[in-house]
Amino acid sequence: MNKAVELKKLTLSYGDATIIKELDLAIPKGEITVFIGGNGCGKSTLLRSIARLLKPSSGSVLLDGAAISSMTTKEVARKMAILPQSPVSPEGLTVLQLVKQGRYPHQSWLKQWSSKDQAKVEAALKATGLEGLEDREVDSLSGGQRQRAWIAMTLAQDTNIILLDEPTTYLDMTHQIEVLDLLFELNEQEGRTIVMVLHDLNLACRYAHHIVAIKDQNIFAQGSPEEVIDASLVKHVFGLECQVSTDPLFGTPLCIPYGKGRSIFSKVASANGR
Ligand SMILES: Nc1ncnc2c1ncn2[C@@H]1O[C@H](COP(=O)(O)OP(=O)(O)OP(=O)(O)O)[C@@H](O)[C@H]1O
Ligand SMILES: [Mg+2]
Repeated sequence: MNKAVELKKLTLSYGDATIIKELDLAIPKGEITVFIGGNGCGKSTLLRSIARLLKPSSGSVLLDGAAISSMTTKEVARKMAILPQSPVSPEGLTVLQLVKQGRYPHQSWLKQWSSKDQAKVEAALKATGLEGLEDREVDSLSGGQRQRAWIAMTLAQDTNIILLDEPTTYLDMTHQIEVLDLLFELNEQEGRTIVMVLHDLNLACRYAHHIVAIKDQNIFAQGSPEEVIDASLVKHVFGLECQVSTDPLFGTPLCIPYGKGRSIFSKVASANGR
């Protein structure tokens, strides 16, 4: 397997609290990898350490075989873009100014703003459906529009590796699918490596080539959705009883949780112990 990123015995902590312990992971190049796991299990912590936003307590992150700890910030940013979970933009910043920030790693005093930079920014705005909102302040946008502005900035960075922490949060169903389709196309047509955190298991199964389930400071299971997603994994990783069926459109695993709810089938009610 060609590896885009390799994690070696990675331990991540906040003060005395260890979140991830001695984790080894190879992220396949040119594929879509999705991290899943319950709230607080360390998905964002892991993603942030891959992007070098968090220094490991021990272990290393290798990018194209080289330790990212020895690279300059710009070097890392030319290879890898990250959309954090709850990004905060400076007050008064417009959508266009935010998206243009994505081009920063490609500039220097020798290489000023170019037509290529302009084209990348325009393409990112178009791909995320933000045309017409360029001059709006990011703070004044709806949650979904704001999320798309940050995704546009990440795309404008034009990197081979794109990390996204819950990119579909705040998005309506249409925009969720649009964003995931866009990432899918970037992967299929341009071979970009996508690594993201998703909470919707069914969308994760539909888009991911590789799923990594995190639990108890390490990897609980990894592999293709078809290999790893079953009722037992969902029970162990999320503590949730569910039935795993097959998505009628895509053939990928479809997780249907038990729990309460209106039902026109008596068997669901009895499975819920009612
Ligand atoms: N800056 C921080 N300082 C101290 N503890 C933190 C910090 N950030 C996260 N944590 C703790 O580390 C653990 C893992 O957090 P993390 O944000 O990585 O979880 P997550 O899997 O992304 O959860 P979620 O699904 O809710 O986004 C949690 O217990 C959290 O409270
Ligand atoms: Mg998180």
